[in-house]
Amino acid sequence: MNAVTTLTVEDGVAVVTIDSPPVNALSAPVREGLKAAFAQAEGDDAVRAIVLACAGRTFIAGADIREFDSELVGPHLHDVQAVIEASTKPTVAAIHGTALGGGLEVALCCHFRVAVPSARVGLPEVALGLLPGAGGTQRLPRLAGVPAALDMMVGGRPIRADKACELGIIDKIVPEGELLAEAVSYARKAADAGTKLVRVRDRSEGLAQDTGPEVFAEFRKKHARAFHGFKAPANIVKAVEAAVALPFDEGFKREGELFEELVHSNESKAQRYQFFAERETAKIPDIPKDMPHIPVKSVGVIGAGTMGGGIAMNFLNIGLPVTIVEAKQEVLDRGVATIRKNYQITVDKGRMTAEQLDERMGLLKPSLAMDDLAQVDLIIEAVFEKLELKQEIFGKLDGIARPDAILASNTSFLDVDAIAAATQRPETVVGMHFFSPANVMKLLEVVRGEKSSDSVVATAMAVGRRIGKVAVLSRVCDGFIANRMMAPRMEAAQALILEGPMPSQVDKAMVAYGFPMGPFAMLDLVGLDVIGWDAATSSSSTVTEVLCEMGRWGQKKSGGFYDYDEKRRPSPSPVADQVVRDFQAKSGKQHREFSEREIVERLLFPVVNEGAKLLDEGIAIRASDVDVALVYGYGWPVFTGGPLFWADIVGLDRVIAGLEAAGHEPAPLLERIAADGRKLHQYQVA
Ligand code: CAA
Repeated sequence: MNAVTTLTVEDGVAVVTIDSPPVNALSAPVREGLKAAFAQAEGDDAVRAIVLACAGRTFIAGADIREFDSELVGPHLHDVQAVIEASTKPTVAAIHGTALGGGLEVALCCHFRVAVPSARVGLPEVALGLLPGAGGTQRLPRLAGVPAALDMMVGGRPIRADKACELGIIDKIVPEGELLAEAVSYARKAADAGTKLVRVRDRSEGLAQDTGPEVFAEFRKKHARAFHGFKAPANIVKAVEAAVALPFDEGFKREGELFEELVHSNESKAQRYQFFAERETAKIPDIPKDMPHIPVKSVGVIGAGTMGGGIAMNFLNIGLPVTIVEAKQEVLDRGVATIRKNYQITVDKGRMTAEQLDERMGLLKPSLAMDDLAQVDLIIEAVFEKLELKQEIFGKLDGIARPDAILASNTSFLDVDAIAAATQRPETVVGMHFFSPANVMKLLEVVRGEKSSDSVVATAMAVGRRIGKVAVLSRVCDGFIANRMMAPRMEAAQALILEGPMPSQVDKAMVAYGFPMGPFAMLDLVGLDVIGWDAATSSSSTVTEVLCEMGRWGQKKSGGFYDYDEKRRPSPSPVADQVVRDFQAKSGKQHREFSEREIVERLLFPVVNEGAKLLDEGIAIRASDVDVALVYGYGWPVFTGGPLFWADIVGLDRVIAGLEAAGHEPAPLLERIAADGRKLHQYQVA
């Protein structure tokens, strides 16, 4: 048919096979091939039924996302689907791997779908800021019902084949390894039996119940918080409302309009950028892709505190044995108990079985002796942030660990090279910086020391992916990428409250921008005292210092910038606000009202500036790595694309002017890129 699609006919059944690695996405050649193959099979009198199958690791994983930003080449997907759907012969999609987005939507144009048990199906477009624009919002509810279809499309998570079968999306589950033969036999039987062929668009079993306005109203209410800032979920709900209220063709047209709104939105562009940016992080220009990794089959963690425990859980979760070492028995016991408690919470929520809990705890070996780390492949140190202490530990490890073991530090700002220098084998040392809670947060910064070997770096990155993290590579600097980037926001926030806005207003602007919480709420959560306050040297010279001196250390003292009730719900604090007002009075600055936009720019332009500095220094490999780190490490709203993508949306000239007006010096790289009319988010270190 063409290079990516073949058509074979055997015994009256045509098999259309797509073979377009890596994921059989619906690129222009695939669409062309599909359309031609189905047209030919339909026209061939020798063909009585048609099977659609895919070669390689998966059924069609969706539209080719790279094509969204360019002019349409080849047939429109809708036209391809129309040809498939118009077949007068039974059509069967044979699904393995993941049938996602446009892939599932193509399958829904077949009369029947069979799948192997390991297959998953889903409409994940929402993660790209889109809606399923190839009839998914209209066809899926007709089979699966409105509530399940809304969950699948707004949640975006693929479901397993058995669940899809229950929902009527899949007609038959067939044994692994026998997919094609079973699909062919299914198609042939349908042809032999003269089974009445009903297109999904003409079916309505899913629309028989739960379609009243209250279903939609309730859904919107339940997810209002999660929808905040995103455009796609609201449009998905509207499209499904149309599926219920309108005949298919009209609903389909409405879906198209709602899709168009999204595909040109900055939110969707940002989310599509993040999709590729996230995958790009794995690529390290000066380390070959096939660099051999050091086998990691066992792990040691030093420190059983909150970080150490969370880090250990990541490895227990994937079935690796972990030896966790502490200096004192009671601290060790407490750490192990916390890990068990965390797992128990998951069991109580029904997301893990008691047996799985036992299995995971069975892999954990608590120890008071560093010598017990002699045989492990990867050791991650997670002790208190003090250079001398870490150097002492690495010095000891040098004499204990196997020569080829990877020695990693979870330091969040210390000099990894200085830590490595405490050993005779600095090439085995890297930073592996987890974010708290370490078993939950998806970011892992792999810090490449001056002497870290390529295979150690490549292995640390791969280990990160194995435990489900997004691993971003950083060079050594104070705070690495994410923490260093966010420090200027905190400084700008502290400075801004002297000019008029109260902490709660600043936080409100950050939440409206899309952050889970603002900087002052975050300070209260972490503890004001932890951020470098020292009673001995406190000089009452900042709001934070005064609050600390008053014992207002944050949530743990039931008050910081906010007051808290017994359920830790915040309310603006008259006491803290008075402290702010006193400082405002003393500051000598002109006080005025600030709009939300001004607050956002005052706090976030310095972050952009820091990003440019960090790229100029070669700390990150590429701008998109920085954006990924902030989204996964700090909850930077993904629909803005991250600070550097957002800066391009706002316009670099505006960023520079804003920085200057607030008394910051724009980073030279920022000025160079702006002067050349280039995009900051596309910058790569040479
Ligand atoms: N378009 C273009 N490229 C894609 C792609 C797509 N839909 N899906 C994956 N790729 C690329 C990735 O960028 C990656 O490329 P590199 O190797 O060059 O980095 C490669 O395929 C492999 O992808 P992963 O590394 O993600 O592989 P995986 O095995 O971990 O996951 C997957 C496979 C589950 C299919 C995952 O890639 C995925 O979730 N893809 C996106 C699926 C999706 O969102 N589909 C909907 C598209 S929008 C749509 O269909 C709109 C519509 O209504 C018509």
